[in-house]
Amino acid sequence: MSNIRNFAIIAHVDHGKSTLADRFLEITGVLSKEKHVEQFLDRNPISRERGITIKLAPVRMEFKTLNSELYILNLIDTPGHVDFSYEVDRTLACVEGVILLVDATSGIQAQTVSNAYKALEKNLVVIPAVNKIDLPNAQVKETKKELAGFLGIAEDEVFEISAKNGIGVEILLQAVVEKIPPPVSKNTNSFQALIFDSYYDTHRGVIAFIRIFDGSIQKRMKIKLHAQNLPFEVSEVGVFVPDLKPVDKLGAGEIGYVVTGLKNIHTVRVGDTILNEKSKLPALSGYKEVRPMVFASLFTTDPQEYLNLKKALEKHSLNDSSLIFRPIVSRALGAGFRVGFLGLLHADVVRERIEREYGLDLVVSPPQVEYEMKNNEYLEPLAQIFILTPQTYLNVTIQLLKDYRAQFIAMDNKEHVSLTYEMPMSEMVTDFYDRLKTVTSGYASFDWEFLRYEKVDAAKLEILLNGSPVDEFSEVVVSDRAFQKAKSRVSALREVIPRQQFEVQIQAKYKGKIIASERISPVAKNVTEKLYGGDRTRKDKLLKKQKEGKKRMKMVGHVEIPKEAFLKLFKRNS
Ligand code: GTP
Repeated sequence: MSNIRNFAIIAHVDHGKSTLADRFLEITGVLSKEKHVEQFLDRNPISRERGITIKLAPVRMEFKTLNSELYILNLIDTPGHVDFSYEVDRTLACVEGVILLVDATSGIQAQTVSNAYKALEKNLVVIPAVNKIDLPNAQVKETKKELAGFLGIAEDEVFEISAKNGIGVEILLQAVVEKIPPPVSKNTNSFQALIFDSYYDTHRGVIAFIRIFDGSIQKRMKIKLHAQNLPFEVSEVGVFVPDLKPVDKLGAGEIGYVVTGLKNIHTVRVGDTILNEKSKLPALSGYKEVRPMVFASLFTTDPQEYLNLKKALEKHSLNDSSLIFRPIVSRALGAGFRVGFLGLLHADVVRERIEREYGLDLVVSPPQVEYEMKNNEYLEPLAQIFILTPQTYLNVTIQLLKDYRAQFIAMDNKEHVSLTYEMPMSEMVTDFYDRLKTVTSGYASFDWEFLRYEKVDAAKLEILLNGSPVDEFSEVVVSDRAFQKAKSRVSALREVIPRQQFEVQIQAKYKGKIIASERISPVAKNVTEKLYGGDRTRKDKLLKKQKEGKKRMKMVGHVEIPKEAFLKLFKRNS
């Protein structure tokens, strides 16, 4: 075990983690330089296209140090985007140290800070490195100083690398061996392992990625999942090279996989502990439960495709334990699903994958948070948000936070100002992040995590069309936002609903009162009325057209709304 090192790379998004991982893979011979595949650990196609890591992929490397000692290095690459910070948590519970990577052209950013705190809280060894030193606009000295100041260490303890060109990378890997301690085990010989990821294989069932803390595991062993007390027999164990490679046995301190044969990924919970079948040991801790925070309704534009959407969601959730969904029916849009996501990016990635991989055209309602009810009062989810912004943009940022109902918690005023606020999630899922980027010319960075539910003055804002409520447009809204939301909803509806043969009243009702309304004046009753007598065929044609048009309409009460109107409304994120 003394020759094992388990580590991760943590950084703000785009600071170069995947590129650095590629260089490590080359140095250790896992990847050949000739057969170079950019960002090898990022094998998810959407992750590649968007240039962000979504799923972490562990890898085992063999590394010979300068004095020819052989080490086994287990690296877990972590995603950098805010929605996936729970994956960083999982990773950090499985390693003894991290490389903290900072881009020399942009310096410390919000996720640099929040990820570093996570590592420090877990008492992990932190090896700081400044990346992209090859770039002409790299501020190497300044970034080293900033990083050293932040961690309270000497500047010469900060490594300088170019993950792209490989400068300083081997020295950094050497430091991983020297500075990060080997894993220790309690030597009780009673098997204990943490699940940090899993995926579903059609033939072999759920494959769990594990870090073994004690004992060992091999084929045919009888073990159990702690949370559900679910026993199973091990059908294979192995390591990541980075593809799965079976081995006879995995021992304490190692990182590898176990083929469980279980068919439901939701029983193999990430963060759960695996123990001997008869073990009475408690669960290993260190994980947070993942909970969806943002909800949207998904429909197919072609109602015939409903079952395919169901299949797609079921298949997708086999490999994404954070995704939850339940069937819903909308009068206007037909059968669909209410789906829970970790955040806006997660929602977007899932939508894109389902559309692309299953060839479906989806209608997605604007993402919303869900309120809880307690004693007839609404509770809203709050997030703790963390922003780093240059001094110049401090005032506009503070004003923006105010506009989004955020409450001040803490501020640290250095060259970059760090701001900690509590913000209702309902505000965060609107356009907050885009606005923050706009007002700070792209310089501010942002991180968030769920905090708690808190009592709030809220009620359902109902939209009525000629007196009938329309569920698709109604939602729970806090009273501070009721007027604004009511006005924008009714005026948006006024624009998209075509004139009918009678007057249409659009009203927004909140706490029993109509707080906004619009009307659409009627058109003449029959399209043929303006044609007097004469041309029979022309008349028939028009009537036929009118009939066909009606088929495309969705009846809401007595009001006909074209499906396109829903699409338009949902698109504008009203
Ligand atoms: P996420 O996984 O999405 O968090 O991003 P990441 O941190 O893995 O960053 P990634 O490795 O994708 O690098 C982001 C961009 O920076 C890519 O375009 C890289 O080619 C580039 N990059 C990474 N390291 C270097 C470097 O040392 N020098 C230069 N010039 N570019 C680099």
